[in-house]
Amino acid sequence: MAHGGNIPAPDSPHKSGSADGQAGTALVSSRPTLPAPIGRRLLLDTKNKMQPIDTCCFAVRGALYHCPVKGEFEHHADALVQVDAEGTIIDLTPASAPGYAELCQALADAGKLTELTPGQYLMPGMVDLHVHAPQWPQAGKGLDLPLYDWLQDYTFPLEARFEDPEFARQVYPHLVNALLANGTTSAVYFATVHNPASLILAETCLALGQRGYVGKINMDDASQCPPYYIETTDQGLADTEAFIQQVRALPGNEQQLVNPVITPRFVPSCTPEMLKGLGELAQRYHCHVQTHCSESDWARDYSLEHYGQSDVEIYRDMGLLGSRTILAHSIFLSDEDMVAIRDAQAAIAHCPLSNMYFANAAMKTREVLDGDLQVGLGTDLAGAPIPSVFHTCLDAVNHSRVREDGTDTHRPASERGEAGSRISFLDAYWMATVGGGLAIDAKVGLLAPGYAFDALVVDANAQDSDLYLPEGMDSPRDVLEKLICLTRRHNIRTVWVQGRKVISK
Ligand code: GUN
Ligand code: FE
Repeated sequence: MAHGGNIPAPDSPHKSGSADGQAGTALVSSRPTLPAPIGRRLLLDTKNKMQPIDTCCFAVRGALYHCPVKGEFEHHADALVQVDAEGTIIDLTPASAPGYAELCQALADAGKLTELTPGQYLMPGMVDLHVHAPQWPQAGKGLDLPLYDWLQDYTFPLEARFEDPEFARQVYPHLVNALLANGTTSAVYFATVHNPASLILAETCLALGQRGYVGKINMDDASQCPPYYIETTDQGLADTEAFIQQVRALPGNEQQLVNPVITPRFVPSCTPEMLKGLGELAQRYHCHVQTHCSESDWARDYSLEHYGQSDVEIYRDMGLLGSRTILAHSIFLSDEDMVAIRDAQAAIAHCPLSNMYFANAAMKTREVLDGDLQVGLGTDLAGAPIPSVFHTCLDAVNHSRVREDGTDTHRPASERGEAGSRISFLDAYWMATVGGGLAIDAKVGLLAPGYAFDALVVDANAQDSDLYLPEGMDSPRDVLEKLICLTRRHNIRTVWVQGRKVISK
């Protein structure tokens, strides 16, 4: 049974019922959030029987979930996804389509069909918009400290060790494999200042099959960077330009599965000359950009003191705020900052767990979603210790609920929190998939024709599973909410990126 709405056409603000028939959320979108649906290309032979599409390389049949519309979901108890040799989805056929059984049989006869079993669900791969790859050995350490001390005491000494490419060769494959196994098919990485080690991270993504966005980071301000972990402005800019070219030219990267990202660490670590030079590179190479934005009181105050501007204003004036920019955190945003982000079509990487450690305030997630800013989720490893975007969905919901309810029990409930600021589990899951895909400018996050087949099989019946789905007790929405809350690494059986099977167990 198919639940719910069609994929909306571009520029068609609409209000639709949610997939399970409950009241929908108004979508007021000034820009396309999804491409136009391409018509189903079901081929009918002379006897009016459906045939596999001739470019079909393989197909997966089973129950599936995804969220074409923010705050809503689409579910099929039985559907077929056909994928071509480039790893692109060519069709999603619901079981109600005429000739469905014959089509599945024909694919099975051709040895092209994978059939899911009861308790297994096909879902889009997760997008992690903010990961510090070199901090993986540090995950779970020092999180009682404030940001400045944590960076000086733990992070900078560890990141400096990546001057040794051998160290990168030890750490990076372990991390990329862990993220893939947790269902992260696309990851946006900060690496370190070192070109060779950063290139090893890009090569690792390519070798293990993850869609990677990799930044060699920039840090040249001697007042903020330790002497053992700093670059000169000129060298940093030259290395960044070389890195962009090297990543784009990596053997095996013809489909640009791995992309370079211009990565000023944050305002305090960079001189104005560095920020300006990086802005010029971003324009010249039409590159993705990532950085930290207004993350904490300290970071916000630093920018106001040194530039008399907010982070968003600084990045805009330096040429770093564009449609390919990802701003991690973005907690202390003025209304003008929010408008500037939306006008630039830049994206926010919401990192709820790390915000709870370092931000000193709560993210305005509800407002960002309702204001139609682009937003996805980030784990911010190792500013938070959990390598799972499923977990980040829960963190995002929890973060918003504490904000909504408030904490001071001496105040009446009506004055304690910020009414109406919660987000739903479906909002969070939309950010983790569709929102992330929009942020990285890639056609990922949906199981729809024209999208890359970046997908997972979640298995509720995996050994030691906490996902308990007793027969007849859960609506389709209940099941999806349970999948979001309770999927763990051992539930994720299969992971594909661009049609390539990268995890199978
Ligand atoms: N701000 C500057 N560097 C970092 C970092 O490594 N992690 C986090 N969370 N914030 C930062
Ligand atoms: Fe970070």
